[in-house]
Amino acid sequence: MNVIRVAIAGFGGVGRATANLLLARRDRYRQVHGAEIRLVAVCGSRSGLADADGLEAERLDALEPGLSGPAFIEASGADILIEAGPSDFRTGGPGLAYIRSSLSAGRDAIVISKGALVHSGPELLALARSSGALLKLSGAAAAALPTIDLLDHSLKGCEVLEIEGILNATTNYLLDAMMNQNLGFDEALAHAQAGGFAEADPRNDTEGWDTASKLILIANFGLDAALTMDDLVVEGIQSVTAQDIEAWRKQSLVPKLVGSLIRTDRATRATVGIRTYPPTDPLAHVSGKNKAIRITTDAMGETIAIGSGTEPLATAAAALKDLEHILTTRAAQATSGKGGEE
Ligand code: HSE
Repeated sequence: MNVIRVAIAGFGGVGRATANLLLARRDRYRQVHGAEIRLVAVCGSRSGLADADGLEAERLDALEPGLSGPAFIEASGADILIEAGPSDFRTGGPGLAYIRSSLSAGRDAIVISKGALVHSGPELLALARSSGALLKLSGAAAAALPTIDLLDHSLKGCEVLEIEGILNATTNYLLDAMMNQNLGFDEALAHAQAGGFAEADPRNDTEGWDTASKLILIANFGLDAALTMDDLVVEGIQSVTAQDIEAWRKQSLVPKLVGSLIRTDRATRATVGIRTYPPTDPLAHVSGKNKAIRITTDAMGETIAIGSGTEPLATAAAALKDLEHILTTRAAQATSGKGGEE
């Protein structure tokens, strides 16, 4: 059986959910892929080795506590890195060093946090291409909602003309609550925070940065664009007033925070802001914490996907979908004796 060693950098809720799902699916990996998956190392600010108790990680005892970045990657001996650390698109966050080290050593990386990919996506992609490593990011690009998968597989060969994405669950919930439960912005936010899914500091979501980050990843990794945050006009929902809500209700329009990309021969124009839809539009029916994407292409018309999974388990499952694609690609390469991208 082919032994595949996996390390997880970033051991908060999503890192832990990923570790647990990975271990729960080991029989599947054996049966479907002929792969013996071993979780060999975890690290995170709250982790240390003690946090890995019960995870049956096999080389954890051999790792020095406190290792991070390149030293952690090197000491772990992992074939695949799963990066789930804190996300910061302005600096790349701590994940950037882990991903760089992994890819430059030819080790595959499955990235869940958006920061490093938004900050240094083209550089990381070039690193992966030159070292023959695979770089996957379903967990970062709206997770349970398929986005890059649609571009890479379902719509392959088509010219993408436009993308509209309701890519942020928190703002969709807030707008829905303001429209349908008569709550003000602050009240709706307090509900979402009490429900545990809006952050204590919600600005990354409410000001549109999370939507913008996901849109950049979809454009850069799904369409080979090279967008940065500076290329986008970004508006959030933080200034929506009771008067706005009343006006939309009167006109029977449904507001959504939308990341939009319009492509022409000459340019790609990307924006984040509120769009309103008539009730006849499928995007008007994407309620609560759901997300959605509509992709318009030259030959296949409109394709719409709606996703409901927002919990850490759903994000973990999106990352482990990437793992299965890596296992399939590597097995095919081993059979044909060739390297190279999927
Ligand atoms: N806070 C995000 C959302 C999830 O509400 O969709 C992480 O990207």
